[in-house]
Amino acid sequence: MKKLYIFHVLLLTLSMQSCFVDQNTATNNSGDDLPTLNIYTDRHYPIDDTIFRKFEKQYGAKINVVKGKSEDLLNRIDKEGAATKADIFLTADVGRIYQAKQSGFFQPMQLPENINFVPDYLYDEDGVWVGITKRARVIVHAKDFDASNLNDYEDLVLPEFKGQIAVRSKENIYNQSLLAAIIANNGEDAALEWVKGVVANMYQSPKGNDRDQVKAIYVGDAKIAIVNTYYLGHLLTSDDAEEVKAAQSIQVLFPNQSNRGTHINVSGGGVLQFSENLELAEKLFNFLLSEEVQKLYAESNFEFPARKGVPSSDIVSQWGKFKEDDTPLSKIGELNTQAIKLFDRGGWK
Ligand SMILES: [Fe+2]
Repeated sequence: MKKLYIFHVLLLTLSMQSCFVDQNTATNNSGDDLPTLNIYTDRHYPIDDTIFRKFEKQYGAKINVVKGKSEDLLNRIDKEGAATKADIFLTADVGRIYQAKQSGFFQPMQLPENINFVPDYLYDEDGVWVGITKRARVIVHAKDFDASNLNDYEDLVLPEFKGQIAVRSKENIYNQSLLAAIIANNGEDAALEWVKGVVANMYQSPKGNDRDQVKAIYVGDAKIAIVNTYYLGHLLTSDDAEEVKAAQSIQVLFPNQSNRGTHINVSGGGVLQFSENLELAEKLFNFLLSEEVQKLYAESNFEFPARKGVPSSDIVSQWGKFKEDDTPLSKIGELNTQAIKLFDRGGWK
């Protein structure tokens, strides 16, 4: 077992390295080295590659990408230390962004000029990270399900929902950030009771990703799920007809509209401490916040643009406008460790 693990780590490391070795030799047609940015990212969406290619064209630069799970990338940044070739860390959750900041992995950057168009809470007060998109973690339920008593995250513990909730595991950072928001709003004791109540109402021990939770509703195993909205956009536009039907079988419910609002998370990142390409990295963040790129995130990945005034995609807009929980994202990052402990204490697998 241990040997197998070591083999896998070795394989992963080799594949990550080869990615760099191949791409770092990139030169332009005249043979000169292009200014290059190396990005470690756990964003796994095809539109990101399109966006990076656009940047390369516009700025005469080269972007190399290493994709991985955020915790693996953070470990790698830590291990590589000053020897790292990575310039930028991008991730899809504020918990990981906060962890990177607390570990001292980022260097301050000059905030992009486009930051004027982004609400304050979507970038760091010390200027070491910026958000590029927002995501909402919502409740969905079967269209034929009577959800008249389901309005808030807190309602998920009601005994009438026993055996009906599909949700992924405690390892999932989106769930950790949602629980952190509940701790921030309701306090630790109430948050622990919430964990226990949701666990008591799960249809099975948590398994799979957000899409799988929607599919559990479609096949009739569950009635309610907790998911990020952009996955619903991907299901609705999937090439797989069954995925489209799964997404069509559910109703989106934005929780807590009569009180604090729906939990919002952020995807974004910063420039790494040992990067010598700060100026080019700043240009990239400015580019990512431009109207053109913000539209691409909205249209192709169904995320909410960080930039004010850029509309959501038609698919996302059809769910209607909603009130967002404005709990500071730094607070949510700070409460991540506490959230993990509460999941354990409350028996969330
Ligand atoms: Fe995701």
